[in-house]
Amino acid sequence: MEIFIDTANIEDIKEAISWGVIDGCTTNPKIVSRENAPFEKRMKKILELVDGPVSIEVTTNDTEEMVKEAEEYNTWAPNVVIKIPMTVNGLKAVNILSKKGIRTNVTAAMSMKQAVLAAKAGATYVSLFWGRIEDMGYDAEKVVAESVDVFAIHGFKTRIIIGSLRQVSHINRAIRVGAHILTIPPAVLKQMAWNPRTESTIDEFLEFWAGYKKAQKGKKSA
Ligand code: E4P
Repeated sequence: MEIFIDTANIEDIKEAISWGVIDGCTTNPKIVSRENAPFEKRMKKILELVDGPVSIEVTTNDTEEMVKEAEEYNTWAPNVVIKIPMTVNGLKAVNILSKKGIRTNVTAAMSMKQAVLAAKAGATYVSLFWGRIEDMGYDAEKVVAESVDVFAIHGFKTRIIIGSLRQVSHINRAIRVGAHILTIPPAVLKQMAWNPRTESTIDEFLEFWAGYKKAQKGKKSA
């Protein structure tokens, strides 16, 4: 199982990389807009920092335009992956790009059927959006579990990324049903590492250590 970081924030990316748990990065136009930074410069910086695939999303719904944008982004670095929307026009673009050897991540998929179409069209990755599936009242765990099973049964090489992970509980469930890759926002990644009982345990140990040091110091000066 791999972990990608779902952000375009440089400090957050550097921090997550320093933990040694990051295998790649995903972005989307909303995430990039929030940064309010020059797009090409920011993406090139991320491509340089991340030792793994970095998804950059196209900003159009027209097949020809998607292919044009993809071809340009693909010249930026060897680790570029082009995020393409899960639409009919998107599938057409994936079909063209996969034949040119350009890697794609079909994004905003909400069902197993869509994931299967993305795989058939030649996508390198397909992103199922956990939080957004639940927003519609569907069971994201079931959609992800079914997709993972179906991909294994039919031997699809396309890897399933789970995005829109908004809570640690989503992550626990996605890992359990065999998600290939999780793309996690920095705040949720921090929550994964944190546990109040761990904190209180460490504090308790350090408190005892401070008492011991104080006692030792007292012995020496006596
Ligand atoms: C993943 O690839 C997407 O960028 C992201 O996870 C979408 O998350 P949201 O549904 O919280 O906007």
